[in-house]
Amino acid sequence: MMSASPLVQKELQLRPATREDLAAIWEIERASFSTPWPKEYLEQQLGEGFVVLEGAGQIAGYAVIGVKLPSFFARLEQRTRALFSHTPEPPTVAHILNIAVAPALRRQGLGKHLVQYALDYAHRLGAARIELEVRTDNHIAIALYQQFGFHIQEIIPNYYSDGADAYLMVKALTPVAEPPSPSEYRDRTA
Ligand SMILES: CC(C)(COP(=O)(O)OP(=O)(O)OC[C@H]1O[C@@H](n2cnc3c(N)ncnc32)[C@H](O)[C@@H]1OP(=O)(O)O)[C@@H](O)C(=O)NCCC(=O)NCCS
Repeated sequence: MMSASPLVQKELQLRPATREDLAAIWEIERASFSTPWPKEYLEQQLGEGFVVLEGAGQIAGYAVIGVKLPSFFARLEQRTRALFSHTPEPPTVAHILNIAVAPALRRQGLGKHLVQYALDYAHRLGAARIELEVRTDNHIAIALYQQFGFHIQEIIPNYYSDGADAYLMVKALTPVAEPPSPSEYRDRTA
C-alpha cells in the first residue's frame, strides 16, 4: 500500500460527505472540471461511497465511488446456468465516479490517498474490478491511476457533454479480509 502524505497523516481526516459539505465540494468541482457535475447531481450522490478529505474545517478533496451490481435478471440467469454448468456469478464492479482535490492543495499526495481509499472500499465490497472514465487529455489523472495499476481498456468517443472522448481505465482486484471504514481509515494511515 502507498503511504499517506505528511499532510494527510497530520491534518486531514477522511469521512463520509454530508449535505453541509456540498457548497465547498461544488467550489472544488467547478474549479476542477470543464463540465462539472451540477450541484443537484452531487447531492444525489451523497451516501456510503461519497467521502471527503477534511482538515481544519476545510474540504481538501473528495471521491465518489459507485458499485455496479449485476441486475436481478442477470443474476437469475447466471444462477440458473450455474445449476447446470458451474458458471460463476457475474462480478460486482466498482466505479470511481469522481475524484478531485482543491487546486491549492494538489501535488501533496491527496489524490493518491483518495484513489487508495477507493481501492480499499471496492475490496471491502468484494468487487472483482474497479473502473473509471477519464478524459483522454487528462494526463495528470491518467498518470495517477496508472501508478495504482489501472490500464486503459478502451476509448469511449464523445463520452463527455462537450464531445470529448474518455478512456475507460480498469484494474482487477483481489479480495482482502477487512479493509477499513472511512472513520477507521485515518487511524490506519496515521
Ligand atoms: C487528478 C488530481 C485528483 C490529482 O490530485 P493530487 O492531490 O494533485 O495528486 P497527488 O499529489 O496524489 O499526485 C498523484 C500523481 O498524480 C500525478 N500528478 C499530479 N499532479 C501532476 C502534475 N502537475 N503533473 C504531472 N503529474 C501529476 C503524478 O503521477 C503524481 O504522482 P507523483 O507525485 O508520484 O509524481 C487533481 O489534479 C485534480 O483534482 N484534478 C482535477 C480533477 C480531475 O481531473 N479528476 C480526475 C477525474 S478522472
